[in-house]
Amino acid sequence: MEENNRGQWGSKLGFILAVIGSAVGLGNIWRYPYLLYSNGGGAFLVPYFIALFTAGIPLVILEYGFGHKFRGSAPLSFARANRKFEWLGWWPSITSFIIMIYYTLILSWAMNYLFFSFGQTWGIDTNSFFFGDFLQASSGPFDLAGIRWPIFIGIAFIWFVNWFVTYNGVSGGIEKLTKVLIPALAIIMVIIVIRGVTLPGATLGLNKLFTPDWSKVKDLNVWMDAYGQVFFSLSIAMGILITYSSYLPKKTDINNSAFITAFSNSGFEFLSAIGVFGILGFMATSQGIPIEEVANEGIGLAFVVFPKVFSLMGSLGTVFGVLFFLALVFAGLTSSISLFEAFSSAIIDKSGIKRQKIVTITAIVGFLVSIVYATGAGLFILDIVDAFINSFSIVTIGLLEALIIGWVIGADKIRSHNNSISIFRVGKWWEVMIKFVTPAILTYMLITKIISEFKNPYGGGDYTTSALVLLGWGLVGAIIILSFVVNKTKWKKGMLEENNYVEEEN
Ligand code: ALA
Repeated sequence: MEENNRGQWGSKLGFILAVIGSAVGLGNIWRYPYLLYSNGGGAFLVPYFIALFTAGIPLVILEYGFGHKFRGSAPLSFARANRKFEWLGWWPSITSFIIMIYYTLILSWAMNYLFFSFGQTWGIDTNSFFFGDFLQASSGPFDLAGIRWPIFIGIAFIWFVNWFVTYNGVSGGIEKLTKVLIPALAIIMVIIVIRGVTLPGATLGLNKLFTPDWSKVKDLNVWMDAYGQVFFSLSIAMGILITYSSYLPKKTDINNSAFITAFSNSGFEFLSAIGVFGILGFMATSQGIPIEEVANEGIGLAFVVFPKVFSLMGSLGTVFGVLFFLALVFAGLTSSISLFEAFSSAIIDKSGIKRQKIVTITAIVGFLVSIVYATGAGLFILDIVDAFINSFSIVTIGLLEALIIGWVIGADKIRSHNNSISIFRVGKWWEVMIKFVTPAILTYMLITKIISEFKNPYGGGDYTTSALVLLGWGLVGAIIILSFVVNKTKWKKGMLEENNYVEEEN
């Protein structure tokens, strides 16, 4: 059977931990708390849960079922389902690789800050330390201004770990690592939260977090943030869930895994939001400033505000700092591995070349590209690439997946496949979601977002049009073109033959 070169999870728990590892990432720890806060606190939960139930969970079920039925990475699954749509498997896989490349930058920052935590190297002015001393940020995305060696070393290390883990395969590498890191992460988060909410002034932060500002629910941008967060956080439209479920044994309950993944991911998000806001309340109280002035945007929150809070805590701050950055590194590592695996497995499937060879070449290429992020321009490039990938690439892939799998390949086929192996059966409601509700909402979101991007280009004037065209629109366009190009290359012999994957369904 072709599975020899593909690998398989050693246990269902291994799979669940790996998908939770993929979902719980940087998006949960530094992005979600800020989004929740800036988008109306408790009121954000309304669009968030609607996004979770109208797009998040239905698409997780879809991707699990699709990958499991066709037993392949995203391109292989699409090619097996309908040869015409193989490109739709390459688009998310290549997107994953692009995300992976900038993800290593944030992880490198977190690694560096983990070391800084021991001596609180960031000093008093954490803002100038981060942007000045540490990043040595240049004047813009095209002004590279030399390599920042501590960042470079961090990036190299993250690539090495990713290479090492994926080199050892699905059960021998990814599963082993997530079995250690995910429980460790859960323990660290619980410690941070318990201590965070018992700090003096914590309730101030929590009140702020959970006092709904209902006027925000009427703001379309808040809804887009909610959908964007649910997609990014659940690792939807990146080829990951399709690939990971293809490594499951033939008889396994996948419907309940979808719910377990989604709820665990949201649980982690709440946990970090509560911890983060408890700590921010402490900071506001001890400095006598309003909490509005403490909270900052995503990146600033983790690398500017938090170090300041840790300094205020004295020696307890050292422990907190180490734990917090360790949590970021653990959460980010398991996600980066899933991004890397989604891309590598697509090439392994297509070429039939040994995993070890492919992951080595891919890691070297990825590492070389990510050197650009280790320069003074890294922060700006990351900002633009991340914004465009999230707003346009991922949402469009999600929309196309719902439409093509829903209407052409057949939502009914996926549902009956899922139900034939799952204890918990999904009803007809799911097909209605995938065929009508999810595409309608995503189309509306996407069109509105494109119009708003043309009216008010990203960055509010911080970036030149050529930077946005090249690193934003250009990059997304290049990914799409590349998907069609790779689509034209030949499959390893026999990969698309039905007897290689078709279930003995009864
Ligand atoms: N799902 C991953 C995250 O939230 C990519 O960071």
